Amino acid sequence: MCGIVAYIGQREAYPIVLKGLKRLEYRGYDSAGVALLNGSGLKVFKKKGKVAELEDHLTGKDVRSHVAIGHTRWATHGEPSDRNSHPHASGNGKLAMIHNGIIENYSQLKQELLKKGHVFKSDTDTEVLIHFIEEIQQSNQCGLEEALRIALKRVVGAYVIVLVDEDNPDTLIAARKGSPLVIGVGKGEHFLASDASPIVEYTKEVVFVNDYEIAIIKADELILKNISNERQTPYIQKLDIELAAIEKGGYDHFMLKEIFEQPQTIFDSLRGRLDAKKGTLTLGGIREHAALLAQAKRIIIVACGTSWHAGLIAEYVIEELCRIPVEVEYASEFRYRNPVVGEGDVIIAVSQSGETADTLVAMEAAKEKGAIILGVCNVVGSSIARLSHAGAYTHAGPEIGVASTKAFTAQLAVLCLIGLRVAQEKGSITQQRFQHLLDELDTISEKVAVTLKLNDQIKTIADKYKDARDFLYLGRGYNFPVALEGALKLKEISYIHAEGYPAAEMKHGPIALVDENLPVVFVATHDSYYEKVVSNIQEIKARKGKVIAVVTEGDQTIPAMADDVIEVPAADELVAPILSVIPMQLLAYHIGVLKGFDVDKPRNLAKSVTVE
Ligand code: M6R
Repeated sequence: MCGIVAYIGQREAYPIVLKGLKRLEYRGYDSAGVALLNGSGLKVFKKKGKVAELEDHLTGKDVRSHVAIGHTRWATHGEPSDRNSHPHASGNGKLAMIHNGIIENYSQLKQELLKKGHVFKSDTDTEVLIHFIEEIQQSNQCGLEEALRIALKRVVGAYVIVLVDEDNPDTLIAARKGSPLVIGVGKGEHFLASDASPIVEYTKEVVFVNDYEIAIIKADELILKNISNERQTPYIQKLDIELAAIEKGGYDHFMLKEIFEQPQTIFDSLRGRLDAKKGTLTLGGIREHAALLAQAKRIIIVACGTSWHAGLIAEYVIEELCRIPVEVEYASEFRYRNPVVGEGDVIIAVSQSGETADTLVAMEAAKEKGAIILGVCNVVGSSIARLSHAGAYTHAGPEIGVASTKAFTAQLAVLCLIGLRVAQEKGSITQQRFQHLLDELDTISEKVAVTLKLNDQIKTIADKYKDARDFLYLGRGYNFPVALEGALKLKEISYIHAEGYPAAEMKHGPIALVDENLPVVFVATHDSYYEKVVSNIQEIKARKGKVIAVVTEGDQTIPAMADDVIEVPAADELVAPILSVIPMQLLAYHIGVLKGFDVDKPRNLAKSVTVE
């Protein structure tokens, strides 16, 4: 939530920061702003709305500078408005700061500062923090770095902050706790951002700043210190993403591009791990923990949103293959209900971004209590990856569309591999079943490519139902979480109310909603629950509901009952969700586009939820 970007070096800073903000806009788009330092001092420009509005506002203005910070906001404290936009300035106007995170004790700090005569121009926690730093600087007669260190010792909450100081125009100061910060190291220049996407165009050498570190950045120098003022050695890593991966590549939207990338991203997530011909499965990231995993008393999957849905499918897969009890928890609930967890438990944290605050906090709590933590995330070097004892990356590449698509199918592929690997270690799977599932995974990306050919048909169905007020999504077994995911996708990007339900549970309440105006999407591929789902479809038809059914190719029964039928290739029920979710993604995408919405940046949402 919120994107931050900054530059210091010899180039013109504003175009770099502006382009970076556009790349980070998926993190929030309530407002945008920049602060620039040049010969005439510190200039701050900010505007409610998307980055394009800031760009229009600055057209024709003098934005020359070699030092700049920029921010794209997802509002937490204070409504979206010009005055609540970042950067925020100190009282004397000499310091400007951008912030991603939440200062939880801002109200107490604000009361103290008000008593000392500080005047605030916004409702934000960020402005309180910069005034607090200024207050310490003035009362302690110290430099900015020292004042920042003192201030951060009193701050409760999460932050990445970057500061510019009119009196020290050749230095940026940044600090991190709980929110992500990447520093790109160029020749005589540095780039700062919430993730690598604004940086990759200029340099592949990056430093991931750790919690409680402060960075002092000049054009040709990067100093890292911990909160006790001890120097740390910056660990420079090489990025392996290409610029093309973060651009639309001819598609109208990132979401559509990412849906269509799935044959490749699933393949990439399996590549090097699965060799169906040799019948082998290697997961380097969990090799050392495989025996412990096989002996786990219990596995708890913690995640949010779409990643939580992937976790629900993994629960079915792991219990089936490994016979280990699995619980799937919303990270936000798990953390705050004092869970019974400890040694012998394995936590699997699933996250695309690797930065979701609730998931991170849940992992920390379980780690403290002695559980083993595995991370399944997409962003290399992310906080969740670094907090885990072991794990496996999904190789879906950068996901920019706010609605998660390719990350979900990559998560399913990797979680399935983990289930198979643990089952193999535990001896809870026959060689024949193991080989069959390897073969199924080996062909799944080709089947995804076949499923994507349904795009035009799904667009026609989308047009037919786009004006519905509500949707119901139903499925059983492995397809129940797919129904939840279908409903979430539709809500997110078309703003149509949608409910996902286990198909049988529908009789216990939601059936009251069914009438001739209600489209009901059934995820009804051929699996062990099939006959039961057929009965559920009949129950809906008996009440005149409109049935859109996702079925297995060649199904003879459901097409005779349903109003619209989408046929996907046949697959083992364990891996079938990777296919059956594709029509869900496309249906939501087309309805959102047909209704005229910005599907890549749905209202009120942000890609990376870095606040609890
Ligand atoms: O980055 P994460 O996978 O941890 O994010 C979790 C959710 O915030 C995310 O899946 C969200 O629900 C998406 N908008 C769903 O499309």
